[in-house]
Amino acid sequence: MKNGLYSAGIIGTGSYVPEKIITNEDLEKIVETSSEWIVTRTGIRERRIAGENEATSNLSTIAALRALDDADMDPKDLDMILVATVTPDMPFPSTACIVQSNIGAVNAAASDIEAACSGFLYALNVAQQFIATGFYKNILVIGGECLSRITNYKDRGTCILFGDGAGAAVVSRVEDGYGFLAQYMGADGSNGNSLAVKAGGSRMPASAATLLHDYHYIHMDGGEVFKFAVKIMSSAAEKAMDIAGITKDDIDCVVPHQANIRIINNVAKRLGVSEDKVYSNLDRYGNLSAASIPVALDEAVKSGRISKGDNVCMVGFGGGLTWASNIIKWSKDSNAIKKAI
Ligand code: ACO
Repeated sequence: MKNGLYSAGIIGTGSYVPEKIITNEDLEKIVETSSEWIVTRTGIRERRIAGENEATSNLSTIAALRALDDADMDPKDLDMILVATVTPDMPFPSTACIVQSNIGAVNAAASDIEAACSGFLYALNVAQQFIATGFYKNILVIGGECLSRITNYKDRGTCILFGDGAGAAVVSRVEDGYGFLAQYMGADGSNGNSLAVKAGGSRMPASAATLLHDYHYIHMDGGEVFKFAVKIMSSAAEKAMDIAGITKDDIDCVVPHQANIRIINNVAKRLGVSEDKVYSNLDRYGNLSAASIPVALDEAVKSGRISKGDNVCMVGFGGGLTWASNIIKWSKDSNAIKKAI
């Protein structure tokens, strides 16, 4: 405990992507594009697509159970579940409530959080606050998406980018000196139109006319979003380092939002962090919005790219527009941390 606050960190991670793969070559048969164009402009080679009977809660449930298993935690010990998503199963009940029922987390409060691709980091930051104050002990944070459901497969400018998947993290008390060292979040609502799904809400309820105009799909000004992303991702990561009192040389692994390899490489260059310290799985999954960072985090941890004592920087941007970053001194060393508390 420091200044009356508990140290909070991640004690377990898990992820799940659906089995069905759509390759660039598959997309060549649907829209006028080429695998070469997609790889050069984005770095994406394939993406996963949820099956007919799978929704965001199904992917999230599997990711959640894997994270709980990794944390060696019974679902009944969870105090809260937060799901970050722009593709909930339905407007309500929340996807978090559906997951709560699926995993039998009978003692947990449950709610969704929406900050598009920054959503998982927003939700992590909320969880950290509850743990730090001692209000709750164990919180499950999930980023889950079925972006294929809001992707227009007639629009070559967007359909090449997105995929489906879910990632989860268990946030709990950890040893002092470990866990969250810094968090940062921001938003610029005045530029929200550059990345939006226009229909389906109270402004423009779904109708035959909205269907006709494809307003139920993602609309994006790719160039504008690209410029915004490069600038905000690097400044948000720097801000988190400042708050934590560390420099780029202290960073062991950056887990960025996986939107475009050119954005990721640009950010690494601006930060002065070598590309081998930046984790990317974009080639296999494309952009998973709120699920992108937790899926990448889980893979980075499980593949040994992150280990106890490492300084991890997660940074993302998304629709809203929103952005968020954090620095975590990784506390997990198999199950040792949990037993030490
Ligand atoms: N295949 C072939 N040509 C294409 C394709 C395609 N799939 N898509 C667009 N083009 C064409 C365009 O029509 C354009 O042709 P023109 O010059 O004849 O008009 C040309 O390629 C160049 O288009 P640009 O849009 O300038 O291409 P750019 O290099 O900017 O790449 C891209 C486009 C990949 C979308 C890029 O802008 C990008 O990644 N932007 C950021 C996207 C992003 O991160 N979005 C986050 C969404 S997250 C969320 O909240 C859901």
